[in-house]
Amino acid sequence: MRSLKTLIPAVIAVIALGSCAVSDAQIVDHTFYGETAAYTETAAPGSTVITTSGDVSSAMLPYLGDSPELPEHDEEPVHTTPAVTAAEIIETEITAREADTIPETSDAGADEEPEELPEKTAEATEHPEETAETAEQSTAPEEIPAESGVKMQSSKKVQKYKFEYQKTNGSLSILGPNLVYLGESFDFDHYYPDETEKTSLMWVMSGNIGSIDDNGVFTALKKGVCNLTLVDRTNGTFAMLKLHVIAPGDDVDFLPLVNNIPIANKTYPLPKDYAPGLDPRAKAAFMQMQLDAEKAGIHLYSISDYRSYNYQQQVYAGWKAMYGSEADLVSARPGHSEHQLGLAIDVNSLEYSFAYTAEGKWLKEHCAEYGFIIRYPSYDSKQTTGYSYEPWHIRYLGKTLAETVMSSGLTLEECLRIDSYYR
Ligand code: DAL
Ligand code: ZN
Repeated sequence: MRSLKTLIPAVIAVIALGSCAVSDAQIVDHTFYGETAAYTETAAPGSTVITTSGDVSSAMLPYLGDSPELPEHDEEPVHTTPAVTAAEIIETEITAREADTIPETSDAGADEEPEELPEKTAEATEHPEETAETAEQSTAPEEIPAESGVKMQSSKKVQKYKFEYQKTNGSLSILGPNLVYLGESFDFDHYYPDETEKTSLMWVMSGNIGSIDDNGVFTALKKGVCNLTLVDRTNGTFAMLKLHVIAPGDDVDFLPLVNNIPIANKTYPLPKDYAPGLDPRAKAAFMQMQLDAEKAGIHLYSISDYRSYNYQQQVYAGWKAMYGSEADLVSARPGHSEHQLGLAIDVNSLEYSFAYTAEGKWLKEHCAEYGFIIRYPSYDSKQTTGYSYEPWHIRYLGKTLAETVMSSGLTLEECLRIDSYYR
């Protein structure tokens, strides 16, 4: 097997090429929270509909006890984390080869430090010839295409995926995913751990694509869409969730959300044409973080941010050619990458040693202050995230959420009580 270290420069080169297609002019205002939902469906009889702002900052992680103003949240469908035999193999190799020999200083990253200032990272991605040159010098396998040809979708197209679903009357919310797989169940009631509160709650659903019992366990019986409604019988407040039932491998035409947060992992796929570009808030937060880091003598730069579905397909194919099924531990299949969400940025290096550099340590310590989390935070976290340790991959969540997740020591999957595995 070709070593991971040999492949990494190649992947960096390919990722850099993919970034060429993303420029400021292409960034669309893809907003997913802090906005008013445009929901027009009919409300529960007798209810007054108030379309709400989807402030994710206050709408997630309730089971950690950090959002007392909202009901609680739990998972989980009737399955377990898949076996990761191949993952174990590659992980063991990596750990043995690198982790034990990595110095505790920043020296490991010194050779990789580019001369450009942070602001120039974005500029560099707009000069294909520069990255093409880099690619030539790298050991990029031929299987990885040299140019992604990413085409950004129009803002209008992206807008159709925005907040299609949640409405509430009063403070009640339905927490949980807006996607359940055919034949599986999801226990929405687990988000509401307060037993006294539960007795006043009633679950109702439209249509016949599934069933929901008195305990909030939804079972998906047919593919389609339904409205799941939670009513508080004591005061008439309600919440409604537009819930999709799909089969494994189906293309989706909606944005997967969990507690109103856009999610892409092995369980939750993105529409092929979901192409928002780098989220402007993530970009602004990253630039501020770069500036502040620079003042502390820490040089941070993006090596990959937004990646389209097609480009992720090419990136994944490159890993697949090298590692077969083990590729699934380090690369998302097309439609499953947070990079397609426009909310993820790979910082500085795809070397595991990045974690031990001054830059890697600074990033871990401070990223939450800017709204980012280390998304795949440890060698152990693959059990819940589905991916190996990626000390370089940050995901934008907003400051409040990011600080909650990072201080919890849990993965985002654990915080949201969802899983991540391919059906
Ligand atoms: N490396 C991460 C998992 C991705 O491909 O999105
Ligand atoms: Zn990444």
